[in-house]
Formats: sequence, C-alpha cells, structure tokens
Amino acid sequence: MANSVQIPKIPSSEITPKNVYLNRREFLRTAGLALGTFTLAACVSRTPAPLKSEENKTQEAKAGNPQAKSNKDELGDPINSYSDITHFNNYYEFSTDKQQVAELAAYFTTKPWDVEVYGMVAKPKKYALGDLISAYKPEERVYRLRCVEAWSMVIPWVGFSLSKLLKDAEPTSSAKYVRFETLNRPDEMPGQKDPWYPWPYQEGLRMDEAMHDLTILATGMYGGELPAQNGGGIRLVVPWKYGFKSIKAIIKIELTDQQPSTMWSTIAPNEYGFYANVNPQVDHPRWSQASERRIGEFARRDTLMFNGYADQVASLYSNMDLRKNY
Ligand code: MTE
Repeated sequence: MANSVQIPKIPSSEITPKNVYLNRREFLRTAGLALGTFTLAACVSRTPAPLKSEENKTQEAKAGNPQAKSNKDELGDPINSYSDITHFNNYYEFSTDKQQVAELAAYFTTKPWDVEVYGMVAKPKKYALGDLISAYKPEERVYRLRCVEAWSMVIPWVGFSLSKLLKDAEPTSSAKYVRFETLNRPDEMPGQKDPWYPWPYQEGLRMDEAMHDLTILATGMYGGELPAQNGGGIRLVVPWKYGFKSIKAIIKIELTDQQPSTMWSTIAPNEYGFYANVNPQVDHPRWSQASERRIGEFARRDTLMFNGYADQVASLYSNMDLRKNY
C-alpha cells in the first residue's frame, strides 16, 4: 500500500467481528426480502472513533503527504488530518467497513479517467480528466462534510464549480435535473459483486442546486491528487447536503427532465430522500440529526442548518416543506 500512515486503533467494543457482521447482514437481507422491503443494513449510526490528532499531522508532513493551503474552514474549525480523510471512508463499491476502503482502493485504476456529459444539452462531450483540469482550473475549497450517520469532517477539496462545465454543455430549456453515475468495475471494486445493492451508484440534483457556486466537482484534495478512496478520478461535493449526495468516481453526467432515482432512496426511500439537505430539525427515522461527532473530537457538536451554508442556499428551498422533501 502506498500510504505509510497507520490505520488508527479503535476499541474492540466498536468492532463487529466479521462473522457476526456477515450473519447479521444475511439476517437483515432475508428479513428485508421477507417483508418485501429493503432495510438499509450498513449505513448505520455507529459512533466513530476519533482518529488522528495534531501530532499525526506533523508525522504526515514528514511522511510527505500533500499540504493544503488553508488549515481552517470559514467558521474557524481546523481541517481534518490527511489520514483521517483518507482512512475513514464511506465507499460501498469497496467495502461497508470504513477503515478497509483505503487498502482495497489502493489497486483501483484512476488513470486514464473520462467523464461524459450528455442528455438534454446542445453540446454533449466526453472529457478526459486532464482536459477538465486544464479548462476549469480547480482551486482549494474547504468544506464541512456531514454524513447522514452523524459524523463530520472538514476537508480541503481541490475542485471547480460544476456550473462551469454545465454551462459549456449548454443545457436545453427542458433540462430540469442532473444525474450522476459512478463507474461500474466489479473487477476492481469488490463491493460491486454484492448483488444486494442496485449498482451503479447514482445521484441527482435539481438544476438550480447543480448550478450553485458551492457545488463542485473535486479533482484533488489537500493540495494533491484526489485519492481513490475519496472518489478519484472525479467526484461531486455538495456541502449543504448529507455526504451520500456527494457521489464518487463519476463517469456520467446526464441532463434530464426527470428526477433521477438515487441509490440510497431506491434502497430505503423512507430514510434517504432525494433532497437530503442537512437539517438538525428532521431526524433520521432511526437516530437524531440534531448533533454530530466531528472526527478527531470527543464532544458532540450541534448540527447546523444546511451544514452551516444556510446564508448561501436557504433561498433555493423557500417554497418547500423540508419535512416532506427530506
Ligand atoms: N459515492 C459512491 N460512489 N459510493 C459510496 O458508497 N458514499 C457516500 C459519498 N459518496 C459513497 C459515495 C457517503 S455515505 C459519504 S458520507 C461520502 O461519500 C464520504 O466521502 P469521503 O469518504 O470522501 O469522506
């Protein structure tokens, strides 16, 4: 494995032995099928272990990890360490175990990488990742990432506004939504061999959400390349929505007049909606969304409306009931 940073130790009480986990998963799958519903087995609310601290950041610098330009977000909170961000990942194409993703993704081919923009556009085009980087000049954007599982991080992405790419594709007046699709490559993504999930991972945004300046396509992180476990070749980042909207390893961007179906809302529509705006007032059916654990901290902190980006995005939803459109 290329990264020499140690995977952090977590208390054994937090680890579910694999045989127990697999049996539970089998049980949930059978139970879900018997009930005629799909119960989301793996996106469970598990309190994450705090990972790396300040001292690790120094070690990382010595180990030659990339360096971000900023060390805080605009609220004054420190960015998470490179090893936290690269060793605590939700990426079901590789594993449902967050701490195994980095190792499994180490063999994932991210070069070459192409992205196709098509559908209701005047200028459909397939782009090589390098051409996107030359054309749109990615910049550092430090964003909070709030997972629906109630943990969060502050991540210095390197990316560009999706709106730039969409404008160049010239959406037609019928285009109302943007649909994103992850690469389907089971040979390199072992999780995709699990037929329980409706692969490939898909996500979607309304056109005005996709055109918002905060919505970026990330091509890098921490001043360097985008690690495979964080979504390299290229991923979406929508900082005011729960992390599952920020789809990784995108190969297709389709403009459409239909609200796209998304992976999590297909699996459990009563738990994961299309909008998925971070909202401390609307709990997940199985846990509270009022507070969160910032990775690296012990005390919980209050979750902010729209993840702290309300000034920029609340107007997008002024006519909507956010309890119904969760
Ligand atoms: N994209 C794909 N293709 N597959 C996934 O499993 N997980 C999502 C999102 N994007 C996921 C994905 C979830 S639940 C979260 S919280 C974020 O990625 C995590 O991003 P990170 O690992 O870079 O922190």
